[in-house]
Amino acid sequence: MDIISVNGITKTYRQYRRFPGLIGSVRSLLTRQYTEETAVRDISFSIREGEAVGYLGPNGAGKSTMIKMMTGILVPTAGEMHILGSVPHEARKMNAQHIGVVFGQRSQLWWDLPVMDSFELHKYIYKISAPTYQNNLKFCMELLSLRDFIHKPVRQLSLGQRMRVEIAMALLHDPKLLFLDEPTIGLDVMAKDQIRQFLRTVNRDKKVTILLTTHDMKDLEEICPRMIVVNKGTLVYDGSVLKLRDRLGDERRVVIDFREEPGTIEFPGLTLLQEEGLRKTYLFARGESTVFELVSRIASQYPVEDASIESEDIESLIRRYYQQLALDDMRNRDIG
Ligand SMILES: Nc1ncnc2c1ncn2[C@@H]1O[C@H](COP(=O)(O)OP(=O)(O)O)[C@@H](O)[C@H]1O
Ligand SMILES: [Mg+2]
Repeated sequence: MDIISVNGITKTYRQYRRFPGLIGSVRSLLTRQYTEETAVRDISFSIREGEAVGYLGPNGAGKSTMIKMMTGILVPTAGEMHILGSVPHEARKMNAQHIGVVFGQRSQLWWDLPVMDSFELHKYIYKISAPTYQNNLKFCMELLSLRDFIHKPVRQLSLGQRMRVEIAMALLHDPKLLFLDEPTIGLDVMAKDQIRQFLRTVNRDKKVTILLTTHDMKDLEEICPRMIVVNKGTLVYDGSVLKLRDRLGDERRVVIDFREEPGTIEFPGLTLLQEEGLRKTYLFARGESTVFELVSRIASQYPVEDASIESEDIESLIRRYYQQLALDDMRNRDIG
């Protein structure tokens, strides 16, 4: 079942021109001159129950705008969108009961209250039953290690602690669907890791559908098998990380330690990247032969001590993808 369906969604922001001064403000009101900016352009996708999807793109690509429309905060300029069967901005109250939202840059906590009080208020506002609340609280307290600071006021927490609390709070009412906008932004490695592991558990064990925006590729690798990539408001890729690797040509790094200098090695698809004495790093673009065949061939002809193979990380994969898109764009313009 599709829990999210987005159909030709466009969002255009209209910014009214302001003239300075008192006379200016009267003039602003009278002329109402504005500029328009399309943040999201004709985007369609659907997400099934239980999926974990990464919504990826550079700054300004329109990720937050999409999340705000999906949570009913913003109204689309065009297109149709259904979340859990209803139109988000028309069913905000109903949606709130089944959706959890975390904004990395904006807190939903009461700044001066101890964490526990924020949780209790949340329980009251969302009318969460005592057993559900207790269960979820216990689950989050343990897996997010909240115990040490649960009685501190929110303003005294570190960013990493606060994010853990935000995520816990978003899950207290047992939502079916969790939206997170840049949940790991600005966090240290340890805090990021804990949050990633937690989200993976929530998705696998509690079957909560997750959509998160990020520009951190590790978030994807660890939480989301599927990614949707946007660029300048447009959807440019929707599929698995694996499929993108296939499409761009699977590139591997092969690191070989030689016993003695091998000289130049010629092999289709092989490029020397880096040399540190007898350790040489090659880039291998898979063609007719597999990387395994490559390494065996080299080992049979040269004095190889050791070899290791690394997959290209998602970051460099996506970078290559953007480069290819820019190139295609240029070619199309030349033709057109
Ligand atoms: N409230 C707003 N008014 C006008 N323009 C906006 C507003 N919010 C975002 N934008 C513009 O829309 C584009 C997409 O923004 P956003 O959705 O925040 O991107 P992302 O989250 O991917 O960084 C940006 O160019 C941004 O400047
Ligand atoms: Mg954003």
